[in-house]
Amino acid sequence: MTSDAPPIDPDIRYRKIDRVIPGQPTSDGAGVRLTRYIGSQSLSELDPFLLLDFFESDNPDDYLAGFPSHPHRGFETVTYLLAGKMRHQDSAGHNGVIEAGGVQWMTAGRGIVHSEMPEQENGRLAGFQLWVNLPATEKYCEPAYHEYPQSQVPVEKRGDGVVIRVITGHTSGGISGPVSGIATRPLYLDVALSPGAQLKESTDEQHAAFIFVIQGQVDVIADQERSTLVAAQLGVLSEGNRVQFNAGGSGSRFLLVAAQPLNEPIVRYGPFVMNTRAQIEQAVRDFNSGRF
Ligand code: FE2
Repeated sequence: MTSDAPPIDPDIRYRKIDRVIPGQPTSDGAGVRLTRYIGSQSLSELDPFLLLDFFESDNPDDYLAGFPSHPHRGFETVTYLLAGKMRHQDSAGHNGVIEAGGVQWMTAGRGIVHSEMPEQENGRLAGFQLWVNLPATEKYCEPAYHEYPQSQVPVEKRGDGVVIRVITGHTSGGISGPVSGIATRPLYLDVALSPGAQLKESTDEQHAAFIFVIQGQVDVIADQERSTLVAAQLGVLSEGNRVQFNAGGSGSRFLLVAAQPLNEPIVRYGPFVMNTRAQIEQAVRDFNSGRF
Protein backbone atom coordinates (compact mmCIF):
# COMPACT_ATOMS: atom_id res chain seq x y z
CA MET A 1 0.00 0.00 0.00
CA THR A 2 1.31 3.46 -0.84
CA SER A 3 1.14 6.24 1.68
CA ASP A 4 -1.58 8.06 -0.29
CA ALA A 5 -3.93 5.06 -0.44
CA PRO A 6 -7.24 5.71 1.32
CA PRO A 7 -7.50 4.17 4.78
CA ILE A 8 -9.36 0.85 4.84
CA ASP A 9 -12.50 1.07 6.95
CA PRO A 10 -13.06 -2.34 8.60
CA ASP A 11 -16.81 -1.64 8.78
CA ILE A 12 -17.10 -1.45 4.98
CA ARG A 13 -17.13 -4.78 3.21
CA TYR A 14 -17.53 -4.52 -0.52
CA ARG A 15 -19.27 -7.35 -2.28
CA LYS A 16 -17.30 -9.00 -5.03
CA ILE A 17 -18.33 -11.35 -7.81
CA ASP A 18 -18.47 -14.92 -6.50
CA ARG A 19 -19.69 -16.54 -9.72
CA VAL A 20 -20.60 -15.51 -13.25
CA ILE A 21 -23.65 -17.28 -14.67
CA PRO A 22 -23.93 -17.20 -18.48
CA GLY A 23 -27.58 -18.28 -18.72
CA GLN A 24 -29.19 -21.29 -20.32
CA PRO A 25 -31.38 -20.88 -23.43
CA THR A 26 -34.65 -22.73 -22.96
CA SER A 27 -38.36 -22.41 -23.62
CA ASP A 28 -41.25 -22.37 -21.19
CA GLY A 29 -44.99 -21.83 -21.17
CA ALA A 30 -46.46 -22.73 -24.57
CA GLY A 31 -43.08 -22.22 -26.26
CA VAL A 32 -41.67 -18.86 -25.20
CA ARG A 33 -37.95 -18.66 -25.89
CA LEU A 34 -36.03 -17.30 -22.94
CA THR A 35 -32.73 -17.53 -21.11
CA ARG A 36 -32.72 -18.98 -17.59
CA TYR A 37 -30.13 -17.76 -15.10
CA ILE A 38 -31.44 -18.91 -11.73
CA GLY A 39 -33.22 -22.27 -11.61
CA SER A 40 -30.77 -23.47 -14.25
CA GLN A 41 -28.20 -26.26 -14.29
CA SER A 42 -25.44 -23.83 -13.33
CA LEU A 43 -27.39 -22.15 -10.51
CA SER A 44 -30.34 -24.13 -9.16
CA GLU A 45 -31.24 -21.41 -6.66
CA LEU A 46 -29.83 -18.41 -4.85
CA ASP A 47 -31.85 -18.48 -1.62
CA PRO A 48 -34.43 -16.86 -1.54
CA PHE A 49 -34.40 -16.56 -5.36
CA LEU A 50 -35.72 -19.66 -7.10
CA LEU A 51 -35.70 -18.62 -10.75
CA LEU A 52 -34.69 -15.76 -13.02
CA ASP A 53 -35.69 -15.76 -16.67
CA PHE A 54 -34.76 -13.06 -19.19
CA PHE A 55 -36.72 -12.84 -22.42
CA GLU A 56 -35.90 -10.51 -25.28
CA SER A 57 -37.02 -10.82 -28.87
CA ASP A 58 -38.51 -8.84 -31.73
CA ASN A 59 -39.71 -12.04 -33.40
CA PRO A 60 -43.33 -12.83 -32.40
CA ASP A 61 -42.68 -16.55 -32.99
CA ASP A 62 -40.43 -16.44 -29.93
CA TYR A 63 -43.08 -15.16 -27.54
CA LEU A 64 -46.66 -15.10 -28.95
CA ALA A 65 -47.60 -18.51 -27.50
CA GLY A 66 -47.19 -16.97 -24.04
CA PHE A 67 -47.84 -18.70 -20.75
CA PRO A 68 -51.44 -20.01 -20.82
CA SER A 69 -53.29 -21.00 -17.67
CA HIS A 70 -50.97 -22.51 -15.03
CA PRO A 71 -50.85 -22.65 -11.22
CA HIS A 72 -48.38 -21.41 -8.59
CA ARG A 73 -48.14 -22.13 -4.86
CA GLY A 74 -45.66 -21.25 -2.15
CA PHE A 75 -43.69 -18.30 -3.56
CA GLU A 76 -43.85 -14.98 -5.43
CA THR A 77 -43.48 -14.20 -9.13
CA VAL A 78 -42.09 -10.82 -10.15
CA THR A 79 -42.51 -9.63 -13.72
CA TYR A 80 -40.60 -6.53 -14.85
CA LEU A 81 -40.98 -5.50 -18.47
CA LEU A 82 -38.38 -3.53 -20.43
CA ALA A 83 -40.34 -3.51 -23.71
CA GLY A 84 -43.73 -4.64 -24.96
CA LYS A 85 -46.92 -5.61 -23.12
CA MET A 86 -48.04 -8.67 -21.19
CA ARG A 87 -51.62 -9.40 -20.16
CA HIS A 88 -52.13 -11.13 -16.86
CA GLN A 89 -55.37 -12.84 -15.87
CA ASP A 90 -56.13 -15.13 -12.94
CA SER A 91 -58.72 -17.56 -11.65
CA ALA A 92 -60.01 -15.04 -9.11
CA GLY A 93 -60.87 -12.51 -11.84
CA HIS A 94 -57.81 -10.32 -11.48
CA ASN A 95 -56.81 -8.92 -14.87
CA GLY A 96 -54.33 -6.32 -16.06
CA VAL A 97 -51.68 -5.40 -18.59
CA ILE A 98 -48.03 -4.94 -17.61
CA GLU A 99 -46.30 -2.46 -19.91
CA ALA A 100 -42.69 -1.42 -20.45
CA GLY A 101 -41.19 -0.12 -17.21
CA GLY A 102 -44.00 -1.63 -15.17
CA VAL A 103 -43.78 -4.30 -12.52
CA GLN A 104 -46.11 -6.93 -11.13
CA TRP A 105 -45.13 -8.53 -7.83
CA MET A 106 -47.52 -11.43 -7.33
CA THR A 107 -47.59 -13.34 -4.06
CA ALA A 108 -49.06 -16.70 -5.05
CA GLY A 109 -49.30 -17.90 -1.43
CA ARG A 110 -51.66 -20.88 -1.10
CA GLY A 111 -52.34 -20.83 -4.79
CA ILE A 112 -53.54 -19.10 -7.91
CA VAL A 113 -54.09 -20.20 -11.49
CA HIS A 114 -53.17 -17.54 -14.01
CA SER A 115 -52.11 -16.84 -17.58
CA GLU A 116 -49.43 -14.44 -18.78
CA MET A 117 -49.86 -13.63 -22.46
CA PRO A 118 -48.14 -11.07 -24.69
CA GLU A 119 -50.67 -8.37 -25.50
CA GLN A 120 -48.91 -7.42 -28.72
CA GLU A 121 -48.65 -9.28 -32.02
CA ASN A 122 -45.37 -7.80 -33.19
CA GLY A 123 -42.48 -5.65 -32.04
CA ARG A 124 -40.02 -6.13 -29.25
CA LEU A 125 -40.87 -7.92 -26.03
CA ALA A 126 -38.25 -7.91 -23.29
CA GLY A 127 -38.25 -8.39 -19.56
CA PHE A 128 -37.66 -10.56 -16.56
CA GLN A 129 -39.47 -13.01 -14.39
CA LEU A 130 -38.00 -13.59 -10.95
CA TRP A 131 -39.33 -16.12 -8.43
CA VAL A 132 -38.85 -15.22 -4.78
CA ASN A 133 -39.47 -17.83 -2.12
CA LEU A 134 -41.87 -17.34 0.79
CA PRO A 135 -40.99 -18.40 4.35
CA ALA A 136 -42.73 -21.54 5.62
CA THR A 137 -45.06 -19.40 7.73
CA GLU A 138 -46.39 -17.57 4.63
CA LYS A 139 -46.60 -20.30 2.00
CA TYR A 140 -50.35 -20.61 2.56
CA CYS A 141 -51.12 -16.89 2.75
CA GLU A 142 -53.86 -15.34 0.63
CA PRO A 143 -52.68 -14.43 -2.88
CA ALA A 144 -51.78 -10.74 -3.25
CA TYR A 145 -50.64 -8.34 -5.94
CA HIS A 146 -48.47 -5.26 -6.16
CA GLU A 147 -48.78 -3.76 -9.64
CA TYR A 148 -47.24 -0.49 -10.73
CA PRO A 149 -46.84 1.09 -14.16
CA GLN A 150 -43.62 2.88 -15.10
CA SER A 151 -45.08 6.22 -13.99
CA GLN A 152 -45.30 4.96 -10.39
CA VAL A 153 -41.76 3.57 -10.23
CA PRO A 154 -39.64 6.39 -8.77
CA VAL A 155 -36.47 7.43 -10.54
CA GLU A 156 -33.45 8.71 -8.61
CA LYS A 157 -31.10 10.86 -10.70
CA ARG A 158 -27.82 11.52 -8.97
CA GLY A 159 -26.45 14.06 -11.40
CA ASP A 160 -23.21 12.18 -11.94
CA GLY A 161 -24.56 9.91 -14.65
CA VAL A 162 -26.42 7.58 -12.29
CA VAL A 163 -30.14 6.91 -12.83
CA ILE A 164 -31.88 4.37 -10.58
CA ARG A 165 -35.41 3.04 -10.99
CA VAL A 166 -36.46 1.76 -7.58
CA ILE A 167 -38.95 -1.09 -7.70
CA THR A 168 -38.62 -2.22 -4.12
CA GLY A 169 -36.36 -1.49 -1.18
CA HIS A 170 -34.66 1.86 -0.75
CA THR A 171 -31.51 3.59 -1.95
CA SER A 172 -28.90 5.46 0.05
CA GLY A 173 -30.38 8.56 -1.62
CA GLY A 174 -33.58 8.00 0.35
CA ILE A 175 -35.81 6.81 -2.50
CA SER A 176 -38.13 3.87 -1.75
CA GLY A 177 -39.82 1.63 -4.30
CA PRO A 178 -43.60 1.20 -4.40
CA VAL A 179 -43.54 -2.55 -3.70
CA SER A 180 -43.44 -2.97 0.08
CA GLY A 181 -44.25 -5.44 2.84
CA ILE A 182 -42.48 -8.37 1.12
CA ALA A 183 -41.34 -11.13 3.51
CA THR A 184 -37.71 -11.33 2.34
CA ARG A 185 -37.21 -7.52 2.43
CA PRO A 186 -35.96 -7.35 -1.17
CA LEU A 187 -34.07 -4.67 -3.02
CA TYR A 188 -34.80 -4.47 -6.77
CA LEU A 189 -33.08 -1.65 -8.66
CA ASP A 190 -32.82 -0.97 -12.41
CA VAL A 191 -29.63 1.09 -12.75
CA ALA A 192 -28.40 3.07 -15.77
CA LEU A 193 -24.84 4.44 -15.69
CA SER A 194 -23.43 6.90 -18.22
CA PRO A 195 -20.01 6.03 -19.67
CA GLY A 196 -17.50 5.95 -16.80
CA ALA A 197 -20.13 6.66 -14.12
CA GLN A 198 -19.98 4.94 -10.74
CA LEU A 199 -22.67 3.58 -8.42
CA LYS A 200 -21.98 3.08 -4.73
CA GLU A 201 -24.77 1.63 -2.62
CA SER A 202 -25.30 0.02 0.76
CA THR A 203 -26.79 -3.46 0.94
CA ASP A 204 -27.97 -5.54 3.88
CA GLU A 205 -24.92 -7.54 4.89
CA GLN A 206 -26.48 -11.01 5.01
CA HIS A 207 -28.77 -10.65 2.01
CA ALA A 208 -28.18 -12.74 -1.09
CA ALA A 209 -27.51 -10.45 -4.06
CA PHE A 210 -26.93 -10.56 -7.78
CA ILE A 211 -26.37 -8.18 -10.67
CA PHE A 212 -27.70 -8.83 -14.17
CA VAL A 213 -26.24 -6.75 -17.01
CA ILE A 214 -28.83 -5.62 -19.56
CA GLN A 215 -26.58 -3.39 -21.69
CA GLY A 216 -22.92 -2.45 -21.91
CA GLN A 217 -20.37 -3.61 -19.39
CA VAL A 218 -19.78 -2.95 -15.73
CA ASP A 219 -16.84 -3.42 -13.37
CA VAL A 220 -17.64 -4.75 -9.91
CA ILE A 221 -15.02 -3.29 -7.59
CA ALA A 222 -14.19 -4.70 -4.16
CA ASP A 223 -11.07 -3.23 -2.56
CA GLN A 224 -8.23 -4.39 -4.84
CA GLU A 225 -10.41 -6.75 -6.89
CA ARG A 226 -12.11 -5.80 -10.12
CA SER A 227 -14.36 -8.14 -12.14
CA THR A 228 -15.98 -7.17 -15.43
CA LEU A 229 -19.44 -8.31 -16.44
CA VAL A 230 -20.92 -7.86 -19.91
CA ALA A 231 -24.49 -7.82 -21.23
CA ALA A 232 -26.52 -10.99 -20.62
CA GLN A 233 -24.31 -12.15 -17.73
CA LEU A 234 -25.50 -12.60 -14.16
CA GLY A 235 -22.98 -12.09 -11.37
CA VAL A 236 -23.63 -13.66 -7.96
CA LEU A 237 -22.31 -11.25 -5.34
CA SER A 238 -20.50 -12.27 -2.18
CA GLU A 239 -21.71 -11.15 1.25
CA GLY A 240 -20.97 -7.56 2.15
CA ASN A 241 -22.57 -4.26 3.08
CA ARG A 242 -21.54 -2.15 0.06
CA VAL A 243 -21.40 -2.45 -3.68
CA GLN A 244 -19.38 -0.40 -6.13
CA PHE A 245 -20.04 -0.61 -9.86
CA ASN A 246 -18.23 1.35 -12.58
CA ALA A 247 -19.64 1.56 -16.10
CA GLY A 248 -17.54 0.84 -19.16
CA GLY A 249 -16.92 3.29 -21.97
CA SER A 250 -20.36 2.84 -23.54
CA GLY A 251 -22.25 3.05 -20.26
CA SER A 252 -24.26 0.27 -18.70
CA ARG A 253 -27.72 -0.76 -17.59
CA PHE A 254 -28.20 -3.54 -15.04
CA LEU A 255 -30.44 -4.93 -12.33
CA LEU A 256 -29.22 -5.05 -8.75
CA VAL A 257 -31.37 -7.44 -6.72
CA ALA A 258 -30.96 -8.61 -3.12
CA ALA A 259 -33.09 -10.27 -0.44
CA GLN A 260 -32.90 -12.14 2.83
CA PRO A 261 -32.12 -15.88 2.54
CA LEU A 262 -34.66 -18.14 4.24
CA ASN A 263 -32.41 -21.11 5.08
CA GLU A 264 -35.39 -23.47 4.95
CA PRO A 265 -35.79 -26.77 3.06
CA ILE A 266 -36.84 -26.31 -0.58
CA VAL A 267 -38.84 -28.96 -2.41
CA ARG A 268 -39.88 -27.83 -5.88
CA TYR A 269 -42.04 -29.45 -8.49
CA GLY A 270 -42.69 -27.22 -11.51
CA PRO A 271 -44.88 -24.32 -10.36
CA PHE A 272 -45.07 -25.47 -6.72
CA VAL A 273 -42.28 -24.66 -4.26
CA MET A 274 -42.80 -25.95 -0.72
CA ASN A 275 -40.78 -27.19 2.26
CA THR A 276 -41.65 -30.91 2.18
CA ARG A 277 -42.54 -33.58 -0.34
CA ALA A 278 -45.88 -34.12 1.42
CA GLN A 279 -46.74 -30.44 0.82
CA ILE A 280 -45.93 -30.86 -2.88
CA GLU A 281 -48.19 -33.93 -3.10
CA GLN A 282 -50.92 -31.94 -1.36
CA ALA A 283 -50.45 -29.07 -3.85
CA VAL A 284 -50.85 -31.46 -6.80
CA ARG A 285 -53.99 -32.97 -5.22
CA ASP A 286 -55.44 -29.53 -4.46
CA PHE A 287 -54.76 -28.29 -7.99
CA ASN A 288 -56.15 -31.45 -9.66
CA SER A 289 -59.32 -31.22 -7.62
CA GLY A 290 -59.84 -27.51 -8.36
CA ARG A 291 -59.08 -26.24 -4.86
CA PHE A 292 -56.81 -23.37 -5.96
FE1 FE2 B 1 -46.97 -17.74 -13.79
